[in-house]
Amino acid sequence: MTDIDRIIQLRNELHQHNHNYYVLNSPTISDQEFDQLLRELQDLEHAHPEAFDPNSPTQRVGSDLNNEFQTVLHRRPMLSLSNTYNRQEVQEFYERISEGLQGAPFQICCELKFDGLSISLHYREGKLYQAVTRGDGVQGDDVTQNIRTIQSIPLQLAQGTEYPDEFEIRGEVLMPWASFDRLNEQRALVEEPLFANPRNAASGTLKSKDSRVVAQRGLDAYLYYLLGDDIPGDGHFQNLQAARSWGFKVSEHLKLADNLQEVFNFIDYWDTERRNLPVATDGIVLKVNSLQQQKSLGMTAKSPRWAIAYKFQAEQACTTLRDVIYQIGRTGAVTPVAIMDPVQLAGTTVRRATLHNADVIQSLDLHMGDQVLVEKGGEIIPKIVAVAPESLSAERGLPVRFVDNCPACGTPLIRIPGEAAHYCPNDASCSPLIMGRIEHFISRKAMNIQSLGPETVDEYFNQGLIHDAADLYTLTEEQLLNETASNRKSAQKILQSIQESRNVPFERVLYAIGIRFVGEIAARTLARHFGHIDALASATAESITEINGIGTVIAQSVIRFFSEPKNQAFVQRLKEAGLQMKISEEQANAQSNLLQGQSVVISGVFKHHSRDEYKAIIEQHGGRNVGSISAKTSFILAGENMGPSKLEKANKLGIRIMNEDEFLEMLVSQEG
Ligand code: IVH
Repeated sequence: MTDIDRIIQLRNELHQHNHNYYVLNSPTISDQEFDQLLRELQDLEHAHPEAFDPNSPTQRVGSDLNNEFQTVLHRRPMLSLSNTYNRQEVQEFYERISEGLQGAPFQICCELKFDGLSISLHYREGKLYQAVTRGDGVQGDDVTQNIRTIQSIPLQLAQGTEYPDEFEIRGEVLMPWASFDRLNEQRALVEEPLFANPRNAASGTLKSKDSRVVAQRGLDAYLYYLLGDDIPGDGHFQNLQAARSWGFKVSEHLKLADNLQEVFNFIDYWDTERRNLPVATDGIVLKVNSLQQQKSLGMTAKSPRWAIAYKFQAEQACTTLRDVIYQIGRTGAVTPVAIMDPVQLAGTTVRRATLHNADVIQSLDLHMGDQVLVEKGGEIIPKIVAVAPESLSAERGLPVRFVDNCPACGTPLIRIPGEAAHYCPNDASCSPLIMGRIEHFISRKAMNIQSLGPETVDEYFNQGLIHDAADLYTLTEEQLLNETASNRKSAQKILQSIQESRNVPFERVLYAIGIRFVGEIAARTLARHFGHIDALASATAESITEINGIGTVIAQSVIRFFSEPKNQAFVQRLKEAGLQMKISEEQANAQSNLLQGQSVVISGVFKHHSRDEYKAIIEQHGGRNVGSISAKTSFILAGENMGPSKLEKANKLGIRIMNEDEFLEMLVSQEG
């Protein structure tokens, strides 16, 4: 058997094992055996870059290459559903259908309404070739790279099954409760903001520019709508069963109802039973089963007439409001939190509810001691939705008024026009702000000082051992021994990991410094662009906004930060402590501006480097790799077997096509 044959064999086997594990929940080999096969495939692919396949099981791990999402038009608009909240409206829907079909018999396919975000997947010849978010329904983002990392989505359909050559299948990308809980636990550890619910987490994840992040987050997908010119039959339900046999994850809880009573039975059953599902659902979707009948019923501008969503009532409980406390984040934002008598809600005991901001308190018209209605919809953090009517007529306590002054330091709060939050402006000496900044500084994606946790830095701060993050670098073993509960071994460990953080690359130091709005990606972009902290500190707002991906909010925040003497002094002390304040030699050397401002499309199969390597080369030279050809494309880096439609489009737009030898030649000659 040749290597190429073995590659193909391994890919097929691994696709099947993936399906067994992630769709059928019944693996036939151990994780270890799976890893071994995967590694064998990785090695062979490495030795044979010409056999690159974006749908290979090895591609599910994602890559950190910045993927810019292309906007694509949906071939068929992605409509939404009209919502109902009660049985009456379900009955009216049923009667409208019956009337619309002039009394002909019909069936309703009853489905769970998954609470994630919808996705449109396109397959050609059994292979996934494009995945697009709903966007505004007319156009969405091409998120194919990210979608490939979702293990339950088949990259290659099951061999020997009869799928159409070309079709679209839509469904919901979601984050199962288990992944969601794990993610929020991890985020809590490093004090990153928590996701409010699995839907937000799924949507934030799918929009990530780094598909490796997506690969790690444990997303899943259920498919619920098959479209195309030659899909198997007239029954929606039957088509979904066929899709399941091709390898898609289709819910097992679909049911065909022959009458309204059966529809209600389905609703009643799932209203409580949904709590035992591994994923979040927020209702039931009812669809006329026959595609022909669907067609004859048609659509309104926004939604089909043949389907409707019945939304579950969010669960509520009634309890007494006892107090309102305030939490202060590292940016100084003040969040009011209601403290209530404990009450059981959707399986957990609830004592606190977020009140978001001053406007929310005011619109609820809260008084101390009120009976309040607490709700936990898809949200993980409960919220107060209203004061119970009986409290309104009773004698009430004092109205809740949002604080005027910072509860920690007493400074009058400010409110930035256009923002809902109040801020404590005292970032120089308000303790929660300072502690929050130090906690951010040591966190994993920043300086990654692992032996220190948020509690430890808070303790050091409260003891007066440190006043800001720069003080960490002057701590001594004696100080830690005398003034904290550490023993010699743990003190040494702490100092060791502080010492190691001196090697953390500049881009993460820049993120750690905590300039408002400068997140990880902006920090990386700024670090690579300016190369040195001094260059960034003396940059103008115009020169910053010229950089791709950096807007005015970030630019102004950077300017403001470096204009303040106390920040200049802080940065100076970090410099003196020996932190990396410029990009490494290697990074600097690897870069050039040869492709600055150019958009390059990569297409076909290559001899000298893999596609991923070419992507990296393009980015190292300041260019951007984009997914599809448009008038803005600078040139196409074409390997063998470039797709005919791409070729045609390139020719039509008059875009230069460069083969890989020409491309490499160009880089070498211009570098020399
Ligand atoms: S069918 C034209 N089925 O709910 C039919 N949608 O409000 C389009 N959803 O955008 C959708 N579970 O994101 C359908 N079983 C299901 C669903 C479902 C969840 C979502 C989907 C859609 C939204 C409609």
